[in-house]
Order: sequence, then structure tokens, then C-alpha cells
Amino acid sequence: MLGPVILAASRSDKMRRFISAAPGTKQVVDRFIAGESVDQVVPVIEDAAAKGLEVTLDVVGEDITTPEQAAAARDAYLELIGRLEELGLGARAEMSVKLSMFGQALEGGHELALANVRPVVEAAAAIGTTVTLDAEDHTTLDSMFTIHEELRKDFPQTGCVIQSYLFRTEADARRLAAEGSRVRLVKGAYKEPASVAYQSKPEIDKAYVRILKTLMQGEGYPMIGSHDPRLIAIGQELARQAGRKLDEYEFQMLYGIRSEEHVRLAAEGHRMRVYTAYGTDWYGYFMRRLAEKPANLLFFGRSVLTK
Ligand code: FDA
Repeated sequence: MLGPVILAASRSDKMRRFISAAPGTKQVVDRFIAGESVDQVVPVIEDAAAKGLEVTLDVVGEDITTPEQAAAARDAYLELIGRLEELGLGARAEMSVKLSMFGQALEGGHELALANVRPVVEAAAAIGTTVTLDAEDHTTLDSMFTIHEELRKDFPQTGCVIQSYLFRTEADARRLAAEGSRVRLVKGAYKEPASVAYQSKPEIDKAYVRILKTLMQGEGYPMIGSHDPRLIAIGQELARQAGRKLDEYEFQMLYGIRSEEHVRLAAEGHRMRVYTAYGTDWYGYFMRRLAEKPANLLFFGRSVLTK
């Protein structure tokens, strides 16, 4: 019930101003956001590496409104990649990007987003790592998949995300698996209408299993993006059935969520990557984390009221 209301609020400027200014917000945001700057995220990457974890870094931000902001997003990623190179952390850290932050929704946005993301993918490749294109709401996906295909011509390691709640995803998974892509499968975090997406958890979970089977049996590199213990166990079993070795797929979870499970899977010999978001424009990312688990809202409410 609450999830869709929170997701609607995630697109409201009034709510953005209210929540950003509320006392106590920062304490809750800090659970999900690893820092505000490159300097603050570096120790987090080093700590992850010490625990045998890998990371994918997301400079938070989305739905920008000017080409200058899109260029600034590109520059923020280039700065990050520069720092990773200096520190020799390139092999441990990948990048995750949202094309809306690179200008996708502006006029001529498809070309603009491609022009802004290409130098980031190029710089990542130069330090031995790669970029994954996050999946946003369903209206953006044709453009995202076309950009993914375009980037893969020069950088075949470029990854993309697919969402099991969308009806279209089984067909997308078959195509991507045959092409040998790196694909992160998630359930999906946006508010989508019943005309394009499953609305119930059992249907979304069943679709997740069907799609994961396709990815595991295909030619690509599956990235299992979920904290759901049942899906993680099914993922392990599907990998075994497909004859995949431990380095032929990976698990991914979000920073701040089920952290003990990150370490447990890594200790079992799995490749475990923590999606680590940082930056100042955290509102949309934070609201999706609240919507995923409405109990977080209670924690948030308590934190605001006790300040
Ligand atoms: P589910 O929601 O069933 O959660 C399983 C358990 O995990 C819960 O019972 C709870 O214990 C814990 N949990 C999950 N979310 C929590 C939260 N917010 N706070 C506290 N505990 C929580 N989506 C998208 O649309 N596009 C994208 O590009 C991405 N990218 C992405 C990357 C990675 C690495 C992950 C793990 C997830 C995404 N997502 C995403 C988000 C994804 O679509 C989904 O909303 C969340 O992962 C929650 O779904 P679960 O599969 O974890 O299952």
C-alpha cells in the first residue's frame, strides 16, 4: 500500500524540499548513501576490498533539467574514475549510471545521453573496469537498450539492467543472453502501470526465476541483483544446473542492506558486488529504498520526530 505512495512522492519537488530539510533525515540517508564526495567513498571501497567484496559505484542523481547538469554528471564520473586509477582500485570497482542523469529526458536526449556516457565508458575501460546502465522507468528502456548496443560495439563489457516486473523483460533477457551481455537482473523499483508490469510480489518473483534461468543458460554474464534469500538460493542452484563456475556469474546487493549477507556470500567463494551510491543528490535513490521496505519509513519517522 505505502510503496506506491512513497514512489509518487519521489517525483515531487515539494516533498523533496520537505524531506531534504527535515531534521533527522541525514541519519537515515547515511544508511543507504556511502558519502557525499569521492573522498568519503574511497574508504568505503577500501573497506569492501578488505572484506573480499567488489563494488559498483553510483554517483547519485537523475531527472536533471539542463545539458549543463548532464555534463556535470559526466564529469563527476570522470573524476571518480581518475581517483580510482590513482589509488589502483580500478579492478575492484565498476560504475553504474542512470542515463536520465546524462540528459536522456531532455530534447535530443537520446543522443545527448550517449555522447555523455561514452567518455565515461571509455575512461572506465582504460583503467580495466566497466560500466553498467541502470534501468529506470519503462518509458526510458528502448533508448537505454539502444545505447547499450551502441556502446557494446566498442566496449563489449558494458552491462545493462533488466527488471523482472516488466512483461517485456523475458524477451529482452533472451536477446541479451544470446548476445553474451553482462546483465544485472533486479525486480524493479519504479511505479509502473498494470499495462506493462506485474503488480504482485509472487508474479514478480516467478518472473525473476524464469528470467534468471534464461540468463544462466545463455552466453552472457548474469549479475543477480537481489537481497531476497529465496532468489539467492535459487540463483545458486540455477548456476549449478547450468554448469557455471563461481567466476561465471555474480551476486549484487545494495550498500546498507543485508550487509552480513554480502560477507557470507563472499566467504563462500562467490563474487559479491556491493552497489555503492554516493553524492549529494540522493533524494530519488533514498525514496526508492524507503518504498522497497515500508518498515524503513517507521525508522525514518522516528528519527525525524526524535530530533
Ligand atoms: P525484496 O524487496 O523482496 O527484499 C528482500 C529482502 O531484502 C527484504 O525482506 C529485506 O530484508 C531486504 N530489503 C530489500 N530492500 C530493502 C530496503 N530498501 N531496505 C531494507 N531492507 C531491504 N531497480 C531498478 O529498477 N533499476 C536498477 O537499475 C536497479 N539496480 C539495482 C542494483 C542492485 C545491485 C540491487 C540489489 C537492486 C537494484 N534495483 C534496481 C532495486 C531492485 O529493483 C529492488 O527494488 C530491490 O533490490 C528490492 O528487491 P529485492 O530483490 O531485494 O527483494
